[in-house]
Order: sequence, then structure tokens, then C-alpha cells
Amino acid sequence: MQESERPIGIFDSGIGGLTVYRALKKLLPGERFVYLGDTARLPYGTKSPRTIIRFSLENAEFLTKFDVKALVVACNTSSSVALDELKKKYPQLVIMGVIEPSARMALNLSPRKKIGVIGTEATIRSGKYQKFLRERGAEVFSKACPLFVPLVEEGWIDHPVTRMVAEEYLGEFKNRVDTLILGCTHYPVIKKAISLAVGEDKILVESGEAVGIELKKILNSRGLLSRENQDNDLFFVTDYLQKFERVASLFLGKKVKIEERKFSLC
Ligand code: DGL
Repeated sequence: MQESERPIGIFDSGIGGLTVYRALKKLLPGERFVYLGDTARLPYGTKSPRTIIRFSLENAEFLTKFDVKALVVACNTSSSVALDELKKKYPQLVIMGVIEPSARMALNLSPRKKIGVIGTEATIRSGKYQKFLRERGAEVFSKACPLFVPLVEEGWIDHPVTRMVAEEYLGEFKNRVDTLILGCTHYPVIKKAISLAVGEDKILVESGEAVGIELKKILNSRGLLSRENQDNDLFFVTDYLQKFERVASLFLGKKVKIEERKFSLC
């Protein structure tokens, strides 16, 4: 098989990373993806760095069996804690996390460099986003929003409780930021509630698009970009629950059929 025809591996702590997959598929339609959602061990956001690193290395080990040419860490929590370890273990692979591409996009888009970052407890605690942005002259406001993930998993998207929680978390950002990084796989699904809470004039940055643009450039520069349209992506989960079909459809905006440990797009 030609180098460029090898697939791209992508993993997340669960199926929230499908928001990133969706954006990548749109920007890189010629690529074949192998997705792994570690649903058995979700959430990562409340766990210690040591555990998150171990899980991330195990996910990468699974995906490298598919002879991937690149690895995308769709999970913000893994990206903020485990990226260096992954790069150390697989120096030959293109490995991309979501933190730097999203932060770079925010810096490019933000008119006054007043940037907010929201994510899981582990992501915010790691300080990775904050450090990267501050080093480049931005004023940064950050907050962990742990209730958002369960609300999305529950399917409470256009729901008064989600709007209330968003208001509670983000009301204070309203007069402080001009740009907000949605630093968690699940947040793009409740973008509307977040936008209402933070002010509809604010720029919202999603990881998927930011990663897709940078990944395309890197693959192109290394002659690794595949140009044939592909529709044979593979999806795996480490544990199966019926609700995954409903939740996965929310993330992807289309129906999916999940079989145990494997699922396919309808
Ligand atoms: N995928 C995680 C992230 O982007 C959110 C869910 C979790 O806590 O595992 O940070």
C-alpha cells in the first residue's frame, strides 16, 4: 500500500470525538479514518494525568495496528495531558492533538486577544491552553464546565436546563472575552446554548476545524495526502450501550448503527 493510502487513526475518551471526525472528514474527504472511542473508561476529564496517559497510550497502541500514517487525539483531555508521551512513543508518526491548532485559530480570529477557554477539569487544570495563549500575548479566562458532558450524553441539547447551566458557567465571560475556545469534544453539540450564554457576538472556536486545516497542511507537505474519496471508515468502541446510537447521531448529524465494539454509518 502507498504511504498516502494508509488510514488516519483518531481516538477520544468516547464518541464525543465524532465532532472532530466529522470536521476532518469534511476537510479531508480523501482520507480513510479508523476511530476509537474508549466508552468503557469515559470520562477522562475527571481522572488523574497518570491514568489519562495510560489510557491514551493503550488507545494509540490499538490504532497503530491498522498501520495508520497519522494519529489525531480528538480528546482535549488526552491532548492536554498525554501528547508528549504519545509523541515519545511513536516518533515516526504524525501525531496531532487539539490544543495548539485550536489555540492558534483563536489567536488568529480574536480581534482583541481576549480569549476564553472552557473544558473538562483535567484540561483546565493542565493549564496547556492558558500557557500557549498567554505566551503569545493573549489575556486568558478559563473555566472547567464539568456538567456539560453529562448533559450532552443525556441528549439535552436544546433544553432549558442546559441553557441555565451554560448561563451559570459562562455569564461571567460575557464582558471579558471576544473569542471562546470550546475545549472539549462535546461542546460543539451545545454551541447554541453556549453562544447565548456568552453573547452571540462572540467567536466560538471548535477543535475539529482547527485540527483539520493543520493536518491537511502537514500531510500535504509530507506527500501523505490521499486524494481518492473514501467511505470505508472504521469505528470502534471499547464498550457498547444502546444509547450510543442516539448520542453518536447527535455528534455526527446523521444516523449510525453500532454493533458491539464496532459501528458503522448508515
Ligand atoms: N473527550 C473529552 C474531552 O474532549 C470529554 C469527555 C471526557 O471527560 O472524557 O476533553
